[in-house]
Amino acid sequence: MNNKIRVKNSGIIKLQYHDDFPDGILVIGEAQKNIPFDIKRVYYISNLSNPKGVRGKHAHKKLEQYIFCVSGSFRLELDDGETKQSMLVDSPYYGIRLGTKLWHTMKKFSRDCVILVLASDYYNEKDYIRDYDEFLEYVSK
Ligand code: TYD
Repeated sequence: MNNKIRVKNSGIIKLQYHDDFPDGILVIGEAQKNIPFDIKRVYYISNLSNPKGVRGKHAHKKLEQYIFCVSGSFRLELDDGETKQSMLVDSPYYGIRLGTKLWHTMKKFSRDCVILVLASDYYNEKDYIRDYDEFLEYVSK
């Protein structure tokens, strides 16, 4: 995984983990400790069997999120309106910040890919920007 994030309102955290067991890896995230907000919502995405599938394609106005790939891998494309960055996310230890005003797209999922997202607030469709031109206008304000 490429550890240098160049887009605005993003970043990488590495969670505490225990992989010294012969039977798997344990990874721990705690609100207000390594996850810098109170987690109000958790969602996960699985059964990503369509190799041409694309998810995301939106930005948020106020929501803060961290995205993890707990199994397998996928490609995350980030765009802050000026800079674009594409990265392979393939480690259960690392979380990528999806801050506000950041257009993100997920694609190229491995068959075993499971994505976990920790969010700072409840689901609110009004917080989404789903139109790319509207996003560019919003970030240029
Ligand atoms: P969306 O956020 O667009 O998914 P993704 O970014 O993974 O492609 O959401 C897909 C649908 O699910 C959309 O109709 C909204 C709904 N949804 C909820 O009802 N609650 C939620 O917490 C989320 C994330 C989505």
